[in-house]
Parts: sequence; C-alpha cells; structure tokens
Amino acid sequence: MSKDVNLMEDIVSLAKRRGFIYQGSEIYGGLAGTWDYGPLGVTLKRNITNLWWSTFVDGREDMFGIDAAILMNQKVWQASGHVGGFNDPLVEDLKTKKRYRADHLLEQNNVENVSSMTFEQMNEVIKDRGIKSPDGNELSDVRQFNMMFKTHVGAVEDETSVSYLRPETAQGMFVNFKNVVDSFYPDLPFGLAQIGKAFRNEISPRDFIFRVRELEQMEIEYFVHPDEWKQHFDYWLDQQKQFLLDLGLPEEKIHHVDVPEEDRAHYSKYSFDTEFDFPIGQKELLGCAYRTDHDLASHMKHSGKSMEYIVKGTNEKIVPHVIEPTFGLDRTFFAVLSNAYTEDEVNGEKRVYLKFPAHLAPVRVAVSPLLKNKPELVEKAREVYSTLKKEFGNVMWDDNGNIGKRYRRQDEIGTPYCVVIDFDTLEDNAVTVRNRDTTEQERVNIAELAAKLR
Ligand code: GLY
Repeated sequence: MSKDVNLMEDIVSLAKRRGFIYQGSEIYGGLAGTWDYGPLGVTLKRNITNLWWSTFVDGREDMFGIDAAILMNQKVWQASGHVGGFNDPLVEDLKTKKRYRADHLLEQNNVENVSSMTFEQMNEVIKDRGIKSPDGNELSDVRQFNMMFKTHVGAVEDETSVSYLRPETAQGMFVNFKNVVDSFYPDLPFGLAQIGKAFRNEISPRDFIFRVRELEQMEIEYFVHPDEWKQHFDYWLDQQKQFLLDLGLPEEKIHHVDVPEEDRAHYSKYSFDTEFDFPIGQKELLGCAYRTDHDLASHMKHSGKSMEYIVKGTNEKIVPHVIEPTFGLDRTFFAVLSNAYTEDEVNGEKRVYLKFPAHLAPVRVAVSPLLKNKPELVEKAREVYSTLKKEFGNVMWDDNGNIGKRYRRQDEIGTPYCVVIDFDTLEDNAVTVRNRDTTEQERVNIAELAAKLR
C-alpha cells in the first residue's frame, strides 16, 4: 500500500476541525514534530490506554504497573547504551544547512537495501549517483546523530548535571526491577508495565503523528528465564496482535515483519515489528524485542547493585532475560483514526464519518431536543441526558444548528448513536435513536433506552 496524500489531508483536516489533534504551538507557526490532543483526541487516547491497562495490567496476575520519572540519572543512559548507540545517520545540505535522515533520503532516491549499509557505503552511493538534497544542493558526509534531548538538572550547567528526556519508558522499569521484586516477591515470569511520554529528536519529523519528537509509549518489560525466551516472545507477539484486534482494527491490515539484524535496536537480539496499513503506507506500529539481559546486566555492572533473581523451587540465581512488547500510543491512535475514516453517500450527498467501535468512540451518545427554543423538549431531553451520562460517561448535549447538521457533526466525530427528543416523546415517552453507520432511526421507549444502547 502506498501513501494516499489526499486521504491524509482529509484525516488531518478532520482531526483539527473536530478537536482531535491540533498542531503544537500553532499560533506561533508550530514546533516541528509536536502535536496537541484536543478534547475528543484526549478522550479517544484515554479509551485506548484504559483498554491497554485493563488488558495487560489489571486483567493479569503477573504484571505490575509503574509510573517512573521522565528525567533520570545520566548513568542510566550510559548503562543502557543510548548515549553511545541511539543514533540516526544524518546528512546536511551544504548550502541551506538543512539536515536530513540519510537513509530516508537514499530510499526516496530509490536506493535499495539502505538499512544494511554502513556510513561509508551511504557516502559512496551519494557520490556515485550524484544524489543531492531536496533543494538540489551538495550534501555533507553522513555522520552519527544522537537522538536524545539533552538538558541540565539544577542551577549548574556542567557535565555532572547533564540529563536527558527519556527516549523510551523502558529504563524506568529496569531501574525499578529490584524494587518491585523486593516489594512483591513475584514468581518468574512476570512483567512491569508503564504508559508515558518519551522524546526523540527526530531529524525529519513527518507524516502527522507518525514520526514525532514527543511521543507516548505503552511498554511492557517481561522478565523470563533465559531458556524460555522464545516461547514468551511468540506469546507476546500474539498478544500484541490480539490487542489491535480488540481495538477493532482489521486483521488484513496487520502484518508481522521479522526485523533483520542490521535494523534492530542496539539492545535487541531478535525483533519483530507489527506493521499496519496506514494511509502513508505499510509502516511500523508496534515492536516486540528480545532484549536478553542487556539492560539488567548492564545496570548491575554500572550501579554495582545486584539484579539477580533467585528462581523459586530450584534456588537458581539468574539475571532474568527480557521480552519487550512496546506499543506506540500515537501510532495506535493514528491507526484507529485512519481505519475509522469512512466516506459514503446519504440522500445523494457525500458523507464523512468515523466508524469507531462503540467502546472507543470519544462520544458514546449525543442527546438533542428537536428544537432548542421549546422548554418542554429541552427539559425532557435534559432528563434523558442526565440518566445516560450517569451510565455511559461520555455523553454529549447537542442542540446546535438543525437536526441534519447535528447528525453530520456527530458522524464526523464518530458518535455511534444520536438520541432525539421530539413532541411525540412528550406523549409516548419514546425517543428517536439514530444509528451512525446505517443512518436508520428507531423509536425506543425511554425506560428501555439505556439497556438498548448498552
Ligand atoms: N523501548 C523500545 C522503544 O522505545 O522502541
């Protein structure tokens, strides 16, 4: 599947118009690679994280949730290998000084097998094929660019006060491994789980919320006996796919891809990506990595603190190995949003609607009085609204514009049902329930309404 530019524009425009996602710092011209979630976006995002947490933390006996600090001691990132190894290849336009990801630039110029190339090989290809910057200028040699945002903690700016905005939430779990073992004495295998922000100074952020500088991750570090890593890896790969299916994403758009050694992160011995058919093409959505004892063993060495675990029953002393299923929240949001985007025709007119599954829809039900200047209708509608709001939470009061416009607006934000109170309601205590997908309308008695919607 290749990039569908028109569809992307339609989705980005709807996301802004309807309050899902705004450009970060928009009134100042934006800040590349940052996006703000609006009222509906934040609710949709929370519906995704709630499902993730209830599936992988609350729904299991072997998982411990944590929420670690974003700023960490710089030694964490030395031990994890991110200071030395979290790099992307960078080239600079010698005239404009604009910087580009060298591998992306080569791929755009139809160079194959870029991911397996050394920097020298990339330089050779650039010279041999006369590849120029997108502005047509000469390029610098390829060099390493560390993607971590560096900062200083406290009043003194020297090497001792250096810290980084975390590039992955994972390390917050590794440094708390021993704390959780000491507090809860879990049996192996067990996992730590965390949802939180991570930051990467991407050379060329792009494709809406796909490649950004500030992102949110939902990560699990699952600690296993080294002899059993493969069975747990296969299990977690499967669980990741199941979660996407639970979000209502179609199986045919989900693809597992074995990541070759040259493309793996510096900590991984074996990785599979789960890719998804986005409007920008088939791209990475989730990752599953076998991190071995890379992190725990390295933290043990650098901190001098034991990360050993005594296996219950056998008393074997081991440093557990780690399977890491990681979920990019923004990409998952993008997958859900783009998959929901639907166009059809109603009464000869083009209609756009978001076909969210009901459990993810940011607004579950909209309640309207047919006319907003009729107090008897408004009073009855308010009663229905309060009852439904108590039961479903995300219920919207909508009395703006005429009923046709309200339906169109609710379609565009993906509200599965609109409930309308009209003059007949005052006589028969029944309301009209309009279905987003079929646009069909049904009369339902108020006494049965909540059960029906449920
Ligand atoms: N912890 C894996 C990643 O950040 O991609």
